[in-house]
Amino acid sequence: MVSLDALTTTEKVATLTTANGQAAMAVGPVVPYAAESNGAQAETDAPRRRRMTMLPLEVGTRVLCRWRDGKYHPVKVIERRKLPGGGGNDYEYYVHYNEFNRRLDEWVKLEQLDLDSVETVVDEKIEDKVTSLKMTRHQKRKIDETHVEGHEELDAASLREHEEFTKVKNIATIELGRYEIETWYFSPFPPEYNDCTKLFFCEFCLNFMKRKEQLQRHMKKCDLKHPPGDEIYRSGTLSMFEVDGKKNKVYGQNLCYLAKLFLDHKTLYYDVDLFLFYVLCECDDRGCHMVGYFSKEKQSEESYNLACILTLPPYQRKGYGKFLIAFSYELSKKEGKVGTPERPLSDLGLLSYRGYWTRVLLDILKRHKGNISIKELSDMTAIKAEDILTTLQSLELIQYRKGQHVICADPKVLDRHLKAAGRGGLDVDVCKLIWTPYKEQN
Ligand code: ACO
Ligand code: ZN
Repeated sequence: MVSLDALTTTEKVATLTTANGQAAMAVGPVVPYAAESNGAQAETDAPRRRRMTMLPLEVGTRVLCRWRDGKYHPVKVIERRKLPGGGGNDYEYYVHYNEFNRRLDEWVKLEQLDLDSVETVVDEKIEDKVTSLKMTRHQKRKIDETHVEGHEELDAASLREHEEFTKVKNIATIELGRYEIETWYFSPFPPEYNDCTKLFFCEFCLNFMKRKEQLQRHMKKCDLKHPPGDEIYRSGTLSMFEVDGKKNKVYGQNLCYLAKLFLDHKTLYYDVDLFLFYVLCECDDRGCHMVGYFSKEKQSEESYNLACILTLPPYQRKGYGKFLIAFSYELSKKEGKVGTPERPLSDLGLLSYRGYWTRVLLDILKRHKGNISIKELSDMTAIKAEDILTTLQSLELIQYRKGQHVICADPKVLDRHLKAAGRGGLDVDVCKLIWTPYKEQN
């Protein structure tokens, strides 16, 4: 692999122009680039090493990119843009790392790309056709993630256009309370925010503003010190508020805009009336500061007990995610129902749920004497039978004998799995939950 780190962009471009000025084909000024390990050796090495790379790189190009770990990883160029004040070929590239989640997509400079590794320049138009023809339900859903009501009527081309529009993060950072947070994904803020890369949120009412001064003015007159709605749980400094989307529409919508910045595969519902939001806060003398939340449909035919879950990045990996999950099952127990999270689960969502299910189920199996069925486990935990089955199957604790599933719970194996399932998270103290299930009021 040829390292290009030592060369400046200008030097690269200079080499390129002389190499072949004729080959321009793509939109915009294109300069072909001959990547060589060593100028003097170029002639002899040519058959083996020489590759022509057009600059600027096309969207769709696959290349190696130096990541924050200092190593090169395969990426696909998703978008490109001219550098302000740069020359005709000074572009930066928005790349997706094949091995990583989309939240790590980012703008990179040409210097980070190993041009010698350029594989192909994908013809996006051909790819477009293939993709739109072969769009699976999952892909369609992904495109719908920022859905506008009535999206079902959109044809494949409009959906593709929509995906095109959402592929690059729009808001790079937000300020919320005492934190400045880097965002992960696109969120469809109203058009008047199109020119913003940073937004300032009031941490209590979740109104968002373009400028810090606006937020400062807002904070002087905003009289909320906690989420609107009812405080249904308090234990130590932790409080949970239940917010009805119908009674607090603007709050619900603001929360959805905020959450979408960290949720990839979720639909953004403008119709927040149908949801309850459970907002977890850490409280001090300045107020109740949002840590995370989950949403729940008021009525779910699919027995979903949670639609979206989020722990804000500064609070992640501290056990709040498992607390929110445990809380959603405590609500299901009070309703006398079993529940399951809405699909699809994100990578982190799946890890958190798998960890939670494993810990809860194995704790029971460890303590339990005698036989226990999946139905009994489901009744005790409010975890849907299918989720119990897949969890125990993935731990290889289920055997199929004489036409039925049997749980095989060797204590040593259980201990090993429990250890691997990580920490238990923060416990929900059920006697501190004061809540009655939602009832439609006319
Ligand atoms: N890397 C590796 N493992 C992780 C990571 C990570 N970055 N984050 C969470 N996990 C795993 C770990 O096993 C962890 O347990 P451990 O810390 O004991 O090892 C477990 O998940 C849960 O950890 P918590 O601290 O309880 O969870 P957290 O507060 O970080 O919240 C959540 C988890 C809500 C999924 C968070 O990562 C998040 O908000 N992500 C962005 C939004 C999202 O993806 N939500 C789920 C979408 S699916 C749905 O909504 C139905
Ligand atoms: Zn406010």
